[in-house]
Amino acid sequence: MKWHKIPSSAIRTKTPVQLLQLGGQKFCLIYHQGEWHATSYKCPHAGANLADGWCEEGKIICPFHRHSFNLIDDKGTKGQNNAIRINRLESRKDDLYVELPESMINKLLNLFK
Ligand code: FES
Repeated sequence: MKWHKIPSSAIRTKTPVQLLQLGGQKFCLIYHQGEWHATSYKCPHAGANLADGWCEEGKIICPFHRHSFNLIDDKGTKGQNNAIRINRLESRKDDLYVELPESMINKLLNLFK
């Protein structure tokens, strides 16, 4: 896992769900009910882009078949039997950082350093 600074251009509260890529990893940056969240971007049901979805009552809703996932504990709504990945966020001074898994390409490049 590695921490990445989120560009200030992405800190837009008027865009509640957006797809970002840092360090070769895509993720959703979400602003909901006054809080920032970072999650995986692919829906575990059939792979839809969750960044095309929306938030309701603390959950991200997938635009394809309406599966919903809790933004705090990562779990899909009861009966879905699935979950998303929640990434840790940290405020440092005026910046927001996200912890993401290292991409396979970066892992391979590190082997040759
Ligand atoms: S792809 Fe997300 S609910 Fe089906």
